[in-house]
Amino acid sequence: METVVSGIRPTGNLHLGNYFGAIKSFLKLQEEFNCFFFIADWHSLTTHPHPDNIRNSARTILAEYLACGIDPEKATLYLQSDVRETAELYLYLNMNAGIGELMRTASFKDKARKQMHIADAESDGSVEKEIFNENNKHSVSAGLLTYPTLMAADIIIHKAVKVPVGKDQEQNMEMARRFARRFNTTYGVDLFPEPASFYMSDKAVKVPGLDGSGKMGKSEGNAIYLVDDEKTIHKKVMKAVTDAGPKEPNSKKPEVIANLFTMMEIVSSKEAYNFFDEKYNNCEIRYGDMKKQLAEDISKFCAPIRERILDIQSNEDYMAKVARIGAEKAHESAAKTLKEVRQIIGFRPE
Ligand code: ADP
Ligand code: TRP
Repeated sequence: METVVSGIRPTGNLHLGNYFGAIKSFLKLQEEFNCFFFIADWHSLTTHPHPDNIRNSARTILAEYLACGIDPEKATLYLQSDVRETAELYLYLNMNAGIGELMRTASFKDKARKQMHIADAESDGSVEKEIFNENNKHSVSAGLLTYPTLMAADIIIHKAVKVPVGKDQEQNMEMARRFARRFNTTYGVDLFPEPASFYMSDKAVKVPGLDGSGKMGKSEGNAIYLVDDEKTIHKKVMKAVTDAGPKEPNSKKPEVIANLFTMMEIVSSKEAYNFFDEKYNNCEIRYGDMKKQLAEDISKFCAPIRERILDIQSNEDYMAKVARIGAEKAHESAAKTLKEVRQIIGFRPE
């Protein structure tokens, strides 16, 4: 059975975008493959969270994944920091990773630029220049630079061949393939398969924000969280941006309106969608009614998940058990790989 690995940074509550963009495919994959899903708590250190936050966010995200239906009997669900072998593999991979290639990755440049407070408009060259500028008070960590090496270690430690990720991770995935290949060629072995990005469908699902334009996201401040209660959801949806309505029959929907419809397509019934689509095309649409329907349908979708989240969160023993069993299974797989790696590099296997 093919192995699938994917990691999620514990950076806040899960929202509808995370569910329909990522988790839904995890649920399908766990039925068909040998899946490892983990909470990337080491990766979250690049933004220096407070120790309490590290513990709490890992717990939150674990409960939310379980509530969504990730089944610890089917998939291995674990915390990255529980599998110390990953750190060892990261060390070995870093010995053959180039500073130059790591500095050239787009996500490093973006994040470094933000950390050094360089405006987006400035040229790429300024990132490198600022990194070497002794007078810049905002330094960029080696951890941020080697983010892709750690991600490669996460993936190849289980010899994964499929990695379900969003398009934004393509460059990190390219690095993972490169580091896997490099290990094999450096030591003349065929230990690591090259991991491929895996998309559930040709057309990536993009859950829109309801605040005008763009996607739903935590940092966009427009997210509807799976844990939100009915009142909160209602408030958020009723605030959605709309316009004065179409003037002519069958007009093209402007982005803000198209976003409402996209959301309805995702959570509502075909009938509800068609009903409002027809109203729009006849210029009879009442956005207030449409939003009410949408809020109701989103609440209907979220309510059972929310209930399970609260239930699971109150069951500390269950969560601890899931984390322990996940850690054991992931450790077993990682330890096997590391035994081979150590031997290949020239260390004692144990
Ligand atoms: P956020 O953008 O809220 O910080 P992450 O970057 O942590 O979310 O994304 C976690 C996963 O959820 C990724 O696989 C990403 O592609 C997916 N995802 C996030 N937002 C959306 C969205 N609006 N539509 C579809 N998928 C999304
Ligand atoms: N880099 C991923 C993100 O930002 C998270 C991640 C860490 C990951 N390690 C991984 C994803 C391994 C897939 C496989 O979302």
